[in-house]
Amino acid sequence: MKKTALLALFSAACLTAVPAKAQELTPEEEAKLLQEALKMLAEGINPAEIWYETGKDLIKKYNLDKCDFGLGPGVFKGALAQLPRYFPDAKKVMDLETRLGWCLEKYAGMSREQVIKMATQCWGKTNCMGEYDAIVTYLSMESNGYKINVNLKDPRVKKMYDLGKKAFYARMGPWDFNCAGCHAGKELKRIRASVLYSVDRPGESGEAVRKFPVYRVSWAQVFPMHSCFSSFISFFSNRRL
Ligand code: HEC
Repeated sequence: MKKTALLALFSAACLTAVPAKAQELTPEEEAKLLQEALKMLAEGINPAEIWYETGKDLIKKYNLDKCDFGLGPGVFKGALAQLPRYFPDAKKVMDLETRLGWCLEKYAGMSREQVIKMATQCWGKTNCMGEYDAIVTYLSMESNGYKINVNLKDPRVKKMYDLGKKAFYARMGPWDFNCAGCHAGKELKRIRASVLYSVDRPGESGEAVRKFPVYRVSWAQVFPMHSCFSSFISFFSNRRL
């Protein structure tokens, strides 16, 4: 569907109902929004497609057709499914967003500060359409249907995997929480209505990761993975963004 048609449809039903702060929604309002969104999804309307279409239009503007996400410059189909991977030109293991930031500096002539400003434009906001979030959505949706295939045989990737695993089990912050406290173990854990995924039940962590970027109905916007990590960090350190 055309971007403008989608936007019009979704704005009419959802965006206008979203207050300045998502936290101000009552549970009833939130349930109503969710119902509207599910109805639209059932009709084949995915609000994230607005981000996808916008992102697609921005590839040329930021010279990202020169960017190599691992399968060659400008090859986006399936690229995310094999990330993170080691990039010899940057001498680093990079995930999608780290690589995107690197390419924005290299090919769009942006400074690190400009990239950070672009990436964080929508943080803490609702109903915000950011160019960075749009590009991430476009790049991610180009890998829809591809099997996740991260190369742990590469020792540099394996090293980052081990580091991530250590962080997942490390307890920190004023509550001495770790990710594993909520996301590990064979038994089913719930917080209110949500069933929490567990790394100890087959396939579930892949399931959690492959959803990103996510469109959150009550915030009426797309959240890429790095913005999600930033919320974790502020949550664990008891500090608001
Ligand atoms: C206090 C419990 C708790 C802790 C600690 C916790 N999470 Fe979660 N996590 C949740 C809840 C609740 C959800 C939302 C489930 C839903 O909405 O379906 C969630 C969802 C997720 C998702 C699924 C994607 C999403 O946004 O819906 C991922 C990935 C995730 N958490 C990763 C982590 C990581 C990594 C850590 C450690 C840095 C962590 N979580 C720590 C409770 C927790």
